[in-house]
Amino acid sequence: MTDDNSTPANLWTPRPVEETIDVYRDWAGAYDADLETYGYHTPTRLAAALARHVAPETTVLDFGCGTGISGAALLQQGFNHLHGTDVTAEMVDIARGKSLYEKLWVGEPGADLPRSYDAIVAVGVVSLGAAPPETLSLLIAHLSPGGVLALSFNDPTVENGSYDAVLEGHVAAADVTVLSREHGPHLEAKEMGSDVIVLRRE
Ligand SMILES: C[S@@+](CC[C@H](N)C(=O)[O-])C[C@H]1O[C@@H](n2cnc3c(N)ncnc32)[C@H](O)[C@@H]1O
Repeated sequence: MTDDNSTPANLWTPRPVEETIDVYRDWAGAYDADLETYGYHTPTRLAAALARHVAPETTVLDFGCGTGISGAALLQQGFNHLHGTDVTAEMVDIARGKSLYEKLWVGEPGADLPRSYDAIVAVGVVSLGAAPPETLSLLIAHLSPGGVLALSFNDPTVENGSYDAVLEGHVAAADVTVLSREHGPHLEAKEMGSDVIVLRRE
């Protein structure tokens, strides 16, 4: 299931949600070490982008928190009130061991969140290889008015276009305003970039 760099084979392609969970279940034990080897820049970039629009005392939902790499970047940036959720129990088990989150739970794919948030992040989650494009609508629906969503689209996701189509629909409907969108490094060893996008709910 892995290529010569131990990334799950064909990670950045659309697949049924059950297979996505299988991929991350099988990868959970090696995920942190692999991402450190690759040089994973999006969590730090995205936490810094969020801090330009959201006060540090705000409770932030780390949607698709995985093993907690994104939560650790938020804490490092000064966000001290974190909730986390992910659909892969084995990833959440590793995050739980790091004690980063005030609340942490295993979610059902596509299920409503238990409440609305003033700030949500999705780092490497609403992308090819993870959650489908309609997840963006779910997250926007669970933002408080004026709330901020910061998420990343990796290069294959931008190239694919289906995720941007959903985003453009919400912009056209005036559900959200794009506060910033910046391209930068995602996985250094893969020479892959990502767009870090910050949205405000109108
Ligand atoms: C590339 S990892 C990113 C994890 C973490 N945010 C990070 O930056 O390391 C993608 C995560 O998205 C989760 N995921 C995939 N589909 C999802 C869905 N529909 N809802 C929530 N999480 C999902 C996977 O279980 C996996 O942990």
